[in-house]
Amino acid sequence: MTNEYAVELATANIRFGAGVTRELGLDLADRGIRKVMLLTDRFLAELPAVATARAALDDAGIEVAFYSKVAVEPTDASFQEAVREAIAIEPEAFVAVGGGSTIDTAKAANLYSTYPADFLEYVNPPIGKGRPIPGPLKPLFAAPTTAGTGSETTGVAIFDFVAMHAKTGIAHRNLKPTLGLLDPDNTRTLPPAVAASTGLDVLSHAVESYTAIPYADRPAPQRPLLRPAYQGSNPISDIWALQALRMVREYLPRAVANPADDEARGMMLLAASYAGIGFGNAGVHLPHGMSYPVSGMVRAFRQEGYPTDHPLAPHGTSVILNAPAVFRFTAPAAPQRHLDAAAALGADTAGVPHEDAGAVLAERILEFMRGLGVPNGLAALGYTQADIPALVEGTLPQHRVTKLSPKPASPDDLAALFQDALEAW
Ligand SMILES: NC(=O)c1ccc[n+]([C@@H]2O[C@H](COP(=O)([O-])OP(=O)(O)OC[C@H]3O[C@@H](n4cnc5c(N)ncnc54)[C@H](O)[C@@H]3O)[C@@H](O)[C@H]2O)c1
Repeated sequence: MTNEYAVELATANIRFGAGVTRELGLDLADRGIRKVMLLTDRFLAELPAVATARAALDDAGIEVAFYSKVAVEPTDASFQEAVREAIAIEPEAFVAVGGGSTIDTAKAANLYSTYPADFLEYVNPPIGKGRPIPGPLKPLFAAPTTAGTGSETTGVAIFDFVAMHAKTGIAHRNLKPTLGLLDPDNTRTLPPAVAASTGLDVLSHAVESYTAIPYADRPAPQRPLLRPAYQGSNPISDIWALQALRMVREYLPRAVANPADDEARGMMLLAASYAGIGFGNAGVHLPHGMSYPVSGMVRAFRQEGYPTDHPLAPHGTSVILNAPAVFRFTAPAAPQRHLDAAAALGADTAGVPHEDAGAVLAERILEFMRGLGVPNGLAALGYTQADIPALVEGTLPQHRVTKLSPKPASPDDLAALFQDALEAW
């Protein structure tokens, strides 16, 4: 086996500024587009972000087919409903105004209406067949209303595969939106619980991509086309990840505490995109891999302050609850990187010996979790020791991300990590 020797940055197109949603109509008109499918979820449908986008499209004379049936934390069924609608509408382009749930649904609607196929055809193996997307998709303009998944920068669409109680996704560079419109006006209505959970997703994206296995420890691909998007930590992603962490440190507590803090909300939107560019090229690892069964298997939990009409473990919450346990486990494989991440998040790491790196990073993350009102561990979501074998079972198929852990995790290791994550503090 020859080791990888190169790293490739796939960039994202983003535009940042209060009010940029109003440019949407002109953007599409200048491309000669006359008809779009505008996707959102039903909670957002009545809020100003969607109204602004609709008005911008109307003003430019663009016909809008409005679709507000995006599921919060989408499923295979909700993706397919949007696909059917897109096939019926035949839009020339897609517009997503919403969080990761909406942007991911728009990616799926774009893909399957452009290149119809059996649903599992493009889904990541082992659940799906992982067929590469045959060609370019239609333009997709994404205005995130959370800060957030970074989905406006990534070629990834995540859904809950209900039959397996597990989340999986579709990953291909052609899924990447044409343009992400980062408009701080669109996050002013975010409930604090959503701002906290989605902001902690940003934090974990950045720490995971910074601590992922180094790209040169992966095998080299046989041809450049086969180089994966998730390449492992690398000097290009590092820049985006560390800067995202510095911004999270300063602006996440402010954005949650005061939704009227325009600067903090704007910086968090940027941090989400920065972390998205970082992890979109480096990958994430165990906290995300373990989060998929945590979200997928939830029974009755509803997070206070989170708009939802069904039991739901919000994505950011499911991720961050695993993070302290994971980083205590992975730190021995890359202690300096764990300390760097802790320092970027504001921990005093001067003189801290390498053997304490995991504890210091975990403690710093726990301070954010406690301060932002995150539930205290997986037990608070209703999980008990009896669920651990199923949680481990649900993590194993996520090897696309778990294999990027700097320290390999066996099923026994995963069980110990879930045990550790039952109670956060
Ligand atoms: N594609 C990717 O790269 C990627 C990365 C990480 C996560 N994800 C996926 O994204 C999904 C989660 O997305 P999310 O965390 O952005 O949240 P979300 O889209 O699920 O939205 C969360 C809730 O907040 C509400 N909301 C969103 N913005 C609002 C606003 N401005 N004002 C008021 N309410 C608002 C929504 O109506 C919803 O009820 C999950 O399915 C997750 O797996 C995708």
